[in-house]
Amino acid sequence: MKLLSGKNVAESIFSDLLAKLKQVDEAPRLLSVIIGDNPAAVNYARAKGRKASALGAEFNILSLSGTISSRDAEKELRKKIKQWDPDGIIIERPVPEHIEFNELVSHIPPVADIDCQRMDTFGMLCAGRAKYIPATAKAVIEIMKFYNIQTEGKNVTIVGRSITVGLPLSMVLMSKSKYGNATVCVCHSRTKKLAEHTKYADIIVVAVGKPGLLKENMVSEDTTVIDVGTTYKDGKLYGDVDFENVAEKVSAITPVPGGVGPVTTVCLFQNLITAALERKKQKNIKAR
Ligand SMILES: NC(=O)c1ccc[n+]([C@@H]2O[C@H](COP(=O)([O-])OP(=O)(O)OC[C@H]3O[C@@H](n4cnc5c(N)ncnc54)[C@H](OP(=O)(O)O)[C@@H]3O)[C@@H](O)[C@H]2O)c1
Repeated sequence: MKLLSGKNVAESIFSDLLAKLKQVDEAPRLLSVIIGDNPAAVNYARAKGRKASALGAEFNILSLSGTISSRDAEKELRKKIKQWDPDGIIIERPVPEHIEFNELVSHIPPVADIDCQRMDTFGMLCAGRAKYIPATAKAVIEIMKFYNIQTEGKNVTIVGRSITVGLPLSMVLMSKSKYGNATVCVCHSRTKKLAEHTKYADIIVVAVGKPGLLKENMVSEDTTVIDVGTTYKDGKLYGDVDFENVAEKVSAITPVPGGVGPVTTVCLFQNLITAALERKKQKNIKAR
């Protein structure tokens, strides 16, 4: 079994990022918006803050009360964008249920929508014309690139259909591109006989948030397993795969922690730097 460590992938992307940063005159600016105090949202923002300082990017959090109305949240977001002029913006999920997420993200300028949260940007992704690939989907692809795992003509089963992970990843893997051209099956909570869909897959990606969901009797020997799941329990981080037993059987697997997670954060910064370079280009055109 080959262990697909995400740390190696993240380090390699990180050194490319440092080189690319030299092409941007000013430190790129990332704005993270947190509404309420959901621990997952707060942790995602903190991880970005740590990576931003390691890279020399500027990072700012707009922290809004969990009881704020949708309209006021939109007003605060617009105000912050005007004041701080970020290159990239991300609304940390989950947001409180009463917040109209699609309305809120529509206030992010398209060029700064580095995780494809706006519906129109997401639509571009579905049409294979996206400027950015959302960070988690990109992380899965970067891991495959790094370890030379081909997707063309392969059967890929994704477990989880969320708009943040499973759905965008399915679009990328289906697209006509080097790390696409796969035959994709997307499973979810209403899928019957999940094992039937995972057993025949060449590659399984699990993004559910239920530790131990993928068990050894659900996988075949030549399979590559990518575990996106992250669940904190008693201060420990768990993926969605029963790692010890599945790892003994499959040909390659990502660990948790140290798998997809560290790659996701650097992929977001790849998108941020692309956004900053794009804005620089637009400013130069305007100045002519
Ligand atoms: N490593 C990273 O960088 C990273 C980044 C983002 C998220 N994550 C982690 O990835 C996991 C998924 O995140 P998310 O935002 O996609 O979560 P989510 O929005 O809660 O979606 C979970 C998905 O899993 C499906 N599901 C639930 N129970 C299932 C079951 N028993 N069998 C098959 N499918 C089932 C759900 O189906 P329905 O659609 O039918 O409800 C849904 O599509 C979480 O642990 C999250 O923390 C990790």
